[in-house]
Amino acid sequence: MKIVHISAECYPMAKVGGLADVVGALPKYQEKAGHESAVIMPAYQTKFRNENHFEIVFENEVILGKETYPFQVLKERSGKLGFSLYLISIKEFFDRSGIYGFEDDIERFISFQLATLDWLTSINEIPDVINCHDHHTGLIPFLMQLAYKYKKLQNVKSVLTIHNGLYQGQFGFDKIDYLPEFDKTHIRLLEWDNCVNSLAVGVKCAHAVTTVSPSYLQEICHFANGLESLFTAVSYKSKGILNGIDTEFWNPKTDTMIAANYDLNLVNEGKNLNKLFLCEKFNLNPDLPLFGFIGRLFEEKGGDLLPETVATILKKEKNANFLVLGSGKSEIEQQLKDLVTVFPGNYNTFIGYDETMAHQVYAGADFLLMPSRVEPCGLNQMYALRYGTVPIVRRTGGLQDTITDFGDNGNGICHQQASVEDICYSVNRAIGLYEDKNLLDKIISKGMQTDHSWESVCQDYITTYQLINII
Ligand code: GLC
Repeated sequence: MKIVHISAECYPMAKVGGLADVVGALPKYQEKAGHESAVIMPAYQTKFRNENHFEIVFENEVILGKETYPFQVLKERSGKLGFSLYLISIKEFFDRSGIYGFEDDIERFISFQLATLDWLTSINEIPDVINCHDHHTGLIPFLMQLAYKYKKLQNVKSVLTIHNGLYQGQFGFDKIDYLPEFDKTHIRLLEWDNCVNSLAVGVKCAHAVTTVSPSYLQEICHFANGLESLFTAVSYKSKGILNGIDTEFWNPKTDTMIAANYDLNLVNEGKNLNKLFLCEKFNLNPDLPLFGFIGRLFEEKGGDLLPETVATILKKEKNANFLVLGSGKSEIEQQLKDLVTVFPGNYNTFIGYDETMAHQVYAGADFLLMPSRVEPCGLNQMYALRYGTVPIVRRTGGLQDTITDFGDNGNGICHQQASVEDICYSVNRAIGLYEDKNLLDKIISKGMQTDHSWESVCQDYITTYQLINII
């Protein structure tokens, strides 16, 4: 099959969260399984963009209302990614550093989608499937089917994969003239709550909708920022497919970013060396259990619960270490920074995202905290399992689908509520577990042997594509 993924993120070109990891890995495994898989994304100014060679494969203009913007399609030349990567370069919108959060994000992502479709319409070999990811690409299934300009793509299968249903890319009908001419009898497909809602458009128009875990698919029928009834209505064409991880890239035996390599046989020695390295670097006590957090510091991820959790545990007794890695809401960042002077030697934080440091935390921490309120899939718990770090999770979304409490013979520690109280309860259970080395070893070994590779998941996507029947 000829598959094209369209996304706002793809590792290693540009990453904000797990979306990038998925779009940087799934196509590689689809290629390995004998398909042709490509990724199309915006040409942001990133390190990867500046350090790699690209060739121009197409040039045209995109029209947005009364304005015209020239664009180029750039192809990554080395082929080292294991799939073809194409960048849509629209200088006006993407020649800046940063991925989201600009005032003209609506214009940026509409122009990206229009340029992408313009190019796909012009090539001879049109794809069999277009797999869109999240709201930044939500207009594509609509435009493929109903815009006269892209008629050639009318019968191409379209899939929308939802990594996060909270963000929906809404804009007012005053911007409707950004879209090229389409069959107006279907204008209501664009509307949700009196706005154009990009995610809702994609959900309505895509031939199939996937979410990144089965539990998340059930959750969004009850909690999805206003789209609950829509998700319920499209359940006939929806499927929850649990994400995989790139087990070649995330492998403690070969990972060049960590202090010492190890596998299941050498896990205790290996993790000790990595922990020593991390404790030295962050002024922590290697004799105590080390709790890590890696992620975006927002309520959604339970980031706001971290400062109080750390303070509650350490005020009582200095019997643990905490290391928090991430960035997000400035109040949360500030609270986390302030704690460094309160609990020196037991707590530290790095505000920002650093891929190498993330690998070092997976390798060196004993436990990984994931107190998410919402977690469509979560990849960190899978990375943690692979690196012999025990995940502590709230039972939600993909966390619920991948982690079972050790009390039920499982691979981690689980709690029910997104509250400081519940997290502290889990942390205290973990501190107890740290003393019971035999049991801890068993849990670690179970986690390291869990198979979350894309090899096994990739086929679910292919089957989803194959089952689409275009009449
Ligand atoms: C988003 C979700 C996360 C998921 C990732 C990849 O970042 O918040 O749960 O793992 O996408 O699908």
